[in-house]
Amino acid sequence: MSFYITTPIYYVNAAPHLGHAYSTIAADVMARHMRQRGEDVFFLTGTDEHGEPVALAAEREGVTPQELVDRNAPRFIELGPKLNVSNDFFIRTSDPEHMATVQEILARIRDNGHVYEGVYEGWYCPRCADFKTDAEVGPENTCLIHKTPLVREKEDNYFFRLSAFQDDLITLLDEQPDFVVPRHRYNEARSFIESGLQDVSLSRSTFTWGVPVPWDDKHVFYVWFDALLNYYSALSYAAEEGDDLTERFWPAQFHFIGKDILKFHTVFWPAMLMAAGLPLPEHVFVHGFLLIGKDKMGKSAGNAIDPFAIIDEYGSDALRFYLMREVSFGHDGSVSVEGFKARYESELANDLGNLASRTIAMVHRYRDGTVPDVALDPDLAAEIDGLNGEVCALLDVADLSGAADAIWLRVRRLNRYVEERAPWTLAKDPERAGELDSVLASLAESLRVVAVLLHPWIPESSAKLLAALGAPELDLEGARAQAGRLGAIDKLPQLFPKH
Ligand code: MSP
Repeated sequence: MSFYITTPIYYVNAAPHLGHAYSTIAADVMARHMRQRGEDVFFLTGTDEHGEPVALAAEREGVTPQELVDRNAPRFIELGPKLNVSNDFFIRTSDPEHMATVQEILARIRDNGHVYEGVYEGWYCPRCADFKTDAEVGPENTCLIHKTPLVREKEDNYFFRLSAFQDDLITLLDEQPDFVVPRHRYNEARSFIESGLQDVSLSRSTFTWGVPVPWDDKHVFYVWFDALLNYYSALSYAAEEGDDLTERFWPAQFHFIGKDILKFHTVFWPAMLMAAGLPLPEHVFVHGFLLIGKDKMGKSAGNAIDPFAIIDEYGSDALRFYLMREVSFGHDGSVSVEGFKARYESELANDLGNLASRTIAMVHRYRDGTVPDVALDPDLAAEIDGLNGEVCALLDVADLSGAADAIWLRVRRLNRYVEERAPWTLAKDPERAGELDSVLASLAESLRVVAVLLHPWIPESSAKLLAALGAPELDLEGARAQAGRLGAIDKLPQLFPKH
């Protein structure tokens, strides 16, 4: 089956920070896991390059908007390989192919009767690039998110008839209760719709940095309509061989987004697709924020933890693992350098690192580097065998934290098993050689299964571990404890050195 997952596309007018890395790593975990299952996966990320914030930033710096985005987009593109994410394509909304699709789909929405001309008058937040409804205007006409003054706008606009989709959107949420997950975000989307939908501006006429409206060259499309369509447009030109991948991958299974952009993805986006007569994505997963103390990590607090510095010192696996373990997926959570170091030490170096190094060292010490070909301890094998199904079921609903917890329970279980069975004691007694064979085979094989299942979170370390075990295969069909699967093994380089 096909599996298509997307991240939000990032604004290029600021530098990438850990908050951006978070969405991308989470989507990468899903994409890698689904590839392990043998699904036909397409994983998309990219940059959002149009709109007023970019036009204003370029003006301030005395460059053209195109120069500004060409300078900044590479920083987001480079973050991908640094984080070891496996995206299949990187979209930039300044790509001419994307722009042509935006024009085509929005012209279709107009032909279908969902666009009209009018005058917009109301409050606008240049930082959100969002026209605020009355309920979204804070004290003294400020933005509730940014706490900065809103701008009173009056301009000729084309409008999208969002209000006409109110009933259809409620029906969608009734019929597909997992269209928005987790549940508390579903409730938020639902109450936004139930509070009454107003039509929204589809175009802007006070600046020119955007996709030109094909039927009126004095307008460009409002950046959110341009940006949302990236999820659809990318498929038409992402393939190197020139194939159109739309049939194969649309509709998407998952859009991963942060909670600040819920309205756009759970209200505007499905309404737009309905207006264009296109199938809707299956799920929008809304995650929380990384916090520094109690505040959202963002542009200003963005360098409190520098993802590049952590990766240079500890490697990408350590950062990926920390973010996925520390912040429960779907909720906010605080992050800090101290928290990172503590988790690195306790879970990667101690729990997993020790389990791996002592298991492999004991096979070398007691059995000359060959895993004994004997039956596995049935109790341990049963616990390990259930894990694959559990992880798959949890990741079906994007419960990334639950899946990582389930795996970690087994890592700890295996460490306890080492203590309980004390192979070093068994090794002293020649009569217990059979028992030692079984313990070592069970440990090595369980370690292999755990390493396969951990691949999406820590791909580099998982590969090192599997290479040492002489079993590099990643497919999940092999994620069951099987006797006789391992033979001669290698030495293991230290996975998580102490710092
Ligand atoms: N360009 C729009 C998205 C368009 S999608 C069609 C945008 N860009 S953004 O760069 O401001 O934010 C991109 C994503 O990063 C959002 O999902 C946002 O929630 C996420 N994050 C930004 N700061 C974050 C944290 N501190 N923590 C977690 N995610 C955060 O919005």
